[in-house]
Parts: sequence; structure tokens; C-alpha cells
Amino acid sequence: MTFSSKLLSLLKKAPLWLGLLFLFGCPSKSYKKTKSYKKYGATGKRSMISTQGPLSTKAGQLIFKKGGNAVDAAIAVSFAISVERPQSTGLGGGGFLLLKTPESPTPLSFDFREMAPNKSHQKMFLGPSGEEQKGKSINGPLSAGVPGLVAGLFHIHKKFGTLPMETLIEPAAKMAEEGFPVYPHLARAIKARASVLKKYPSSKKLFFKNGEPLKVGDRLIQEDLAKTLRLISHFGKKGFYGGFVGNQIAIENQKEGGIISLEDLANYKVKERKPVKGSYKGYDVYSMGPPSSGGIHILQILNIIENDPLKKMGYGSADSIHLISSAMQTAFVDRAFHLGDSDFVKVPTQKLISKNYAKMLRSRIKANSAQTFEESKMRGPFPKESDETTHFTIMDKSGWTVSSTQTINGWMGSGFLVPGTGVILNNEMDDFAQKVGASNLFEAFGGEKNLIEPKKRPLSSMSPTIILKDGKVKLALGTPSGTRILTCVAQTIINYLTFEMDLYEAVAATRFHHQWSPNEIRVGSNPFPTSIISDLEKKGHKVKFKPLGCKIQAIADEGAVLRGVSDPRGEGLSLGE
Ligand code: DON
Repeated sequence: MTFSSKLLSLLKKAPLWLGLLFLFGCPSKSYKKTKSYKKYGATGKRSMISTQGPLSTKAGQLIFKKGGNAVDAAIAVSFAISVERPQSTGLGGGGFLLLKTPESPTPLSFDFREMAPNKSHQKMFLGPSGEEQKGKSINGPLSAGVPGLVAGLFHIHKKFGTLPMETLIEPAAKMAEEGFPVYPHLARAIKARASVLKKYPSSKKLFFKNGEPLKVGDRLIQEDLAKTLRLISHFGKKGFYGGFVGNQIAIENQKEGGIISLEDLANYKVKERKPVKGSYKGYDVYSMGPPSSGGIHILQILNIIENDPLKKMGYGSADSIHLISSAMQTAFVDRAFHLGDSDFVKVPTQKLISKNYAKMLRSRIKANSAQTFEESKMRGPFPKESDETTHFTIMDKSGWTVSSTQTINGWMGSGFLVPGTGVILNNEMDDFAQKVGASNLFEAFGGEKNLIEPKKRPLSSMSPTIILKDGKVKLALGTPSGTRILTCVAQTIINYLTFEMDLYEAVAATRFHHQWSPNEIRVGSNPFPTSIISDLEKKGHKVKFKPLGCKIQAIADEGAVLRGVSDPRGEGLSLGE
């Protein structure tokens, strides 16, 4: 029995329930705009912050109250969210940040993604006969890249910060000392990663009580992390990459089979990069370029669908889902074959985001049938022309906007907490291709350009995005959730700018995802009605139902107000002033 027929038989048994659904509006279209709207949406006249952690949003707001700018608030939020969401991000991880200042005509982008340690090599996760070894690139300190978050925050602070770093770190240090009650997502992550956390006494000590994983309501106090934050506050970047913390990272990770050295830590480099730029329906879209794949493929998806009458097809119609997911499918083929760290491999960015290339790809998508895995792989030459993560968005009315995605990769990263420091190391090495054709935690196809090399940065999907209209910021957004990041961001843009939903609706609406491999449409929470699903199946799509994990944090400048929305699927908070 297929999912759709199962659902149909269930619905037949519940005519009253069905009647109520129609009476009060069909929830499969999106979340309802009732109490959630008040809880997850906000407006402000001067500033707005949307993050995945209520305590972190408040830490950012405190910095605005002390007279800081959006960059100061972003730094305070980054440290705070490292404490509040240790399952998703932290000092042992990295990220990307897009920034629009009042002076710069276009956004700037900063890359503080993890780097492969010097001792890394292409076969480090393969078995003796070159076979994949599941788990080796995900669990334990060997899976960690050299962390970049702290270096990134100091780099940005030096250029644009106005308040002292001590002031920006203080809310996080205090939160770590005082602790907070474990909330459902954190409890779920600790439980899901319990077997790995248990292997390391330092991780077990923090996340277990009486031999059991912490539960909702237990208090999480991170004393060692507070001490590390105070060392950073006192000694600057060196308080993390050298001294007690740096030594502990180097010594302890190597004791447990890792390869990060003090030299790797000392040589970590933040990169300022040009964001990728495209246009969509009269707006200028800026997003993160390589080593992220996100920006390129968001632009590619938007380019492919730009001239189709999507509004007429309607949000949630089989035709619009078919078209958008086919555009996603085709973009992910290019991700597999063309993307990697552009400091190491050639990425044909301008060709991939060109309108002509999109036109050719669009011509291959048929109205009534899905492309097979093999068909969607066919490309032809480029046209001849020039070439558990977290996200927060912060905007103020004086022209500053920050959009940043930060991560330690999977839930609890490598699961290895560096003893005495409170720092959990990431497992970002899993974002590399372990070999050509291998798939990672997010089932993404591993391409040749993304093979491991010392100092290289693993390919990412993180897509902090800022959209301008006539030089002024209109919308800024981003989300966690691996490969789904770029498709969730693209859909929110389409919902807001093409389907003309209000921002809450655009964020809350049901989303879907296609990444070519596996060759299926994944429909997220609150799925579309069965009739739409069977229309998609008739077009030849395989449909799978599984939440996408995205938690969009968006802010729009709507003229009179700044409107913020923290995805109602999460536990975050938007606050305006
Ligand atoms: O950089 C990337 O694309 C991944 N490391 C992001 C991981 C992620 O989003 C996990 N999220 N929930």
C-alpha cells in the first residue's frame, strides 16, 4: 500500500475530521497564522533579530540596547548560541557570514569554515580495499576539521565592531555559568548521539546524569565552556587557538585518534570572499559562494523557474512543485560534478549562475514528466559566455544587515568534547567526498572536486542570503539542515517574492526538497494533500515524506517596519525594537 493510499483510507474513516479541515482551511498548505504567528513573528521600528535560540536573541537585543551595531549583536549572538545550542554549533565549528553595511553598495561575505588538518589525506576514511567505512568521518575527533568560528568573529569584530569583545562575550559566558533547562530538541540530540558521547568521559560528564542522557527540564551548566569564553575574552583569538585551550585541543584530540595539531590551529585563516550575485524578478540576490554550494544553486534554481507563470500555477499545485523540484534536481547534478573549495579546484561559478545556462536546463524539464536520474545528468556544454547548524539574521534601520549560518555539522558534531574546555569538536570532514560517488550524512553525492586535501575546506550547503531592491536590503534569511538549506532558502524567496505570501506564511508554508541523488521529492512536515501527491506520482516523481529539518530565520524590511520570523518548526525567537 502506498503512503497516499494509506492516507486516503485513513481520511475516509474520518469524515468529521475532514469536514473540519475544509471548514477551517487546509493545514497542508501551511502552518496556521494563529498563536504561532505571535510567538514566532515580530515587528520592529529600529532593529530585528531572528535566531534559533530565545536566550541568544535576547543576548543580541541587550547589545543593541548597549549601543552596539548589528555586527556587535551578531558576535554576541554567535557566542551565545554556541552555549544555547551545543548540539548545532559552537566554538569547535565554523560558518559563513554575509554583511551589508550602510557604506558598501553590495554585501560582503566572510568564510570561517573549518579547514582540513595538515595530516589529512584522500584515503583517511577508507578501509584497506578502498571501501567506505560508515561512521569514521562522523564520530570522534578524526572527523573534525580545524575550527574557524572564533577566528571569524575576531576578524569581523576588528573591521566593524564598536563595543569591546568582552562585552560581546559576557552574555554567553554568563549563560554557560548559570545554565538553562534542557529543551526538547537538545534532549533529542543528546539521546540520538548518546552512544558516541558515552565513549568520551568529558562528553559523558556534561550530557549525562546518573548514567542517563539529560532529559527535558534538567539543567545544563557548562562551567568549562564559561572558562574558555573568559580566556577568549581576556587573551583574544589566542585564548582559543593557543594557550590552555589550544593545547588541550591539540593534545586531547590526538590522544583519541584525531590529527589536529597546534600548527593547524595557529594557521587557521579567515577568508573574505565575493558573494555570488544574481537577479530574480527585479531583485538582486547575494548569497555565499564556494566553498559553499548554496549560493550558486539558489541562483540556479531561481534562474530556471524565473520566467514560468508560477503564480498562475499556484503555490502547492502539482505543476509548481514539479517545476521547482525539477529545477532543484538539475542544480544538484552540477553540485556533484562542479563544486568544491575554489581555492583548490576550478568552480565555473559564472557559467553555473548564468541565465543562458538556466534557459538550456529549463528546456529539458517537461511539463508532465519527471526526469530520470540519468536524464537529469545530461548537460551538454555551457553556453559560450563569461564565466545541526544554526542560522541567525539581524537587521537595523541604519543600514546594517547580518545573515550568518554556523555549524559543527551533525548533531553534537564529532561527539568529542575537549576535556577541560567545554568545546565540542565538529565532524565537518564528513562534508568532503570520502571517495567519488560516496554519500555523506546528508546523502549528497560525493564529487571529485570535493575530495580531501590538507588545508582545503569541505563543500557546504550553508546559504546566508541577502536580497536587495534598488540597493536597499529587502529580505535576509538562512537556515540549518545540510543539503536542504539551499532548497529551503530558494523556496522561501519564491514564496515571498513570487507567490506574494506574507513573511510568516512564506516561512511556515509546507516545503519540499529534491537533490537528484536520491532521485525523489522529499515533502516536509504538514504534507500536501493526497491528490497533489498522486498528481506528482503520475508525472513520474517518487515522493517521500520526511521533515526537511530547515528552520528559516528571516527578516524583511517592509518600509514602515522590520518584520522578523523565526521558523515555527523550531524553538527560536524573533524580537524587534
Ligand atoms: O556545511 C554544510 O552544508 C553542513 N555541514 C551543514 C550541516 C547542517 O546544516 C546540519 N543541520 N542541521
